[in-house]
Amino acid sequence: MEDEVIPPAKPIFNKEMEEAAIHALRNEHFILGESVHKFEEEFARYIGTKHAVSVSSGTNALHLALLAADLKPDDEVITSASSYIATSNSILHANGKPVFCDINNEYLLDPREIPKKITKKTQGIMPVHLYGHPCDMDEINDIAEEHDLFVIEDCAQSHGAVYKNKMTGTYGLMGCFSFYSTKNMTVCGDGGMVTTNNEELAWKIKLLRNHGQHPKDVHTIIGYTARLNTVNAAIGRVQLKYLPKWIEERREIAEKYYKLLKDVEEITLPPRDTNTKKPSYHLFEIKAQRRDELLKYLRENNIICLIHYPTPIPYQPIYKQLFDYKEGMFPESEKLSKQAMDLPIFPGLREDQIKYISEKIHEFYNR
Ligand SMILES: Cc1ncc(COP(=O)(O)O)c(C=O)c1O
Repeated sequence: MEDEVIPPAKPIFNKEMEEAAIHALRNEHFILGESVHKFEEEFARYIGTKHAVSVSSGTNALHLALLAADLKPDDEVITSASSYIATSNSILHANGKPVFCDINNEYLLDPREIPKKITKKTQGIMPVHLYGHPCDMDEINDIAEEHDLFVIEDCAQSHGAVYKNKMTGTYGLMGCFSFYSTKNMTVCGDGGMVTTNNEELAWKIKLLRNHGQHPKDVHTIIGYTARLNTVNAAIGRVQLKYLPKWIEERREIAEKYYKLLKDVEEITLPPRDTNTKKPSYHLFEIKAQRRDELLKYLRENNIICLIHYPTPIPYQPIYKQLFDYKEGMFPESEKLSKQAMDLPIFPGLREDQIKYISEKIHEFYNR
């Protein structure tokens, strides 16, 4: 065990996926082939929306969703200070202005902070179901309705996460998923999906991803090259078949960590399953005292843990330069960035490995 390196995540590419990829390459158009349409139908069915439109990345899903929601230059969109930078970059790509809110003790956009940030220019809210933990969608949707704002969910990390018996990605006007290689499911390359119940928006995304072209050689809006490749869709279909099983496995691993680590006072474990929220545990994010030392100790013992994310988005150099943000403006996000680290979690992580990781954490704090 001591010699075996435990990675933070482990993407799966099996024989069935390999065969699906080869079959698609040999038999379908490389671009917008049959697998793309089938993947979209199956993904919509899994999430529980009427439509799903695939695109070339999670970032493009967010960007095109904002354009489809008719975001105009300088319109403001409220989002979380603690996320991957793609969330707020997508607002800038759409020529809008990201307005950041601090987080609650579940790592997520704090609905109590949102009303303080609403101005005449606010057009939308972009909650992020970070690490696979669903945001308080009822509260967020109530605020949105009261102020006539759209909600676009960033579901890049939340495939399979459930809020009040429905999947994340069904609560907003649109939900945006990423299939980057370490996500809960991947297309073994970049890819993304927009889910929605609105037919007109689904159609707009289809136009936007394909240079606004319909019918052939007629361009009615300015669009992009942002399609998902057929070969990636073919792999995605197989991955999607396994996704429910993988999510269950992630939940079982999380339960094991809860049991083995509940007595370690120096760490705070992530929010657990409740009747309202069923996380999908894209990451098993703990808050740890002496985080950097623990990380080093685990690495010395061949356990590779990562930090998501060491710097809140507003404190990134480019955001400070563009918007004049300063340390101290988002204290909860700042605290998280200094304490957060994720323990390895992926389908196939063995019981003995989970025990070994937990033992090493106990060992570190008992030294
Ligand atoms: C929260 C969040 N939003 C957006 C993205 C962007 O997705 P992609 O990397 O597929 O562009 C990611 C993933 O990397 C993410 O974690």
